[in-house]
Amino acid sequence: MFRHTRRMGLRSHGGRARFLTGLSLVLSFVFFLLLLDILVVSNVSQAAGPAGGREREFTITARQFAYSPPRIRVRLGDRVTLRVTSEDVVHGLYIDGYGINAKVYPGQETVVSFVANRPGKIRYRCSVICGNLHPFMIGEVVVGPNYTLWGALALTVLAAGGTVLMLWRRGEEIRDRSEEATDGTA
Ligand code: CUA
Repeated sequence: MFRHTRRMGLRSHGGRARFLTGLSLVLSFVFFLLLLDILVVSNVSQAAGPAGGREREFTITARQFAYSPPRIRVRLGDRVTLRVTSEDVVHGLYIDGYGINAKVYPGQETVVSFVANRPGKIRYRCSVICGNLHPFMIGEVVVGPNYTLWGALALTVLAAGGTVLMLWRRGEEIRDRSEEATDGTA
């Protein structure tokens, strides 16, 4: 019985070694995938053009003392083009953090374009004094997460978790089987 147990012990040891080899293989695979994800993400956030982002175009009208629509939504990495026309007097269009400042004339389209490369809100405001409520003439671009990239990350994590679980359970099975065999001889 003693000898038997030892032999079984060796076999389950082999199972564990195989499990560990598998685990390290999976971990390096996961590491590779994560690296790929990170590369894609950083590529998008630094992009001068829409690498993975979309081309989004919005038509906005400016009038005392608001932009319409006042809020637009895009995803991280999108190239955003705003086509702005005034319906009354001359307004301005200053985009926070992007160094864009343009004038918006009545009946004439002003076109500005930028890549939404940071999450959160990008404010744009009127930069031409157009009346008493001019300081409140503000609009915003809401930059949401890029679900394609988050999806890729989530899938990576899921696949890794599933594989590790599978390997772990196989390791358990081998251990159980060797324990059963040991019990049988007792
Ligand atoms: Cu519109 Cu200032």
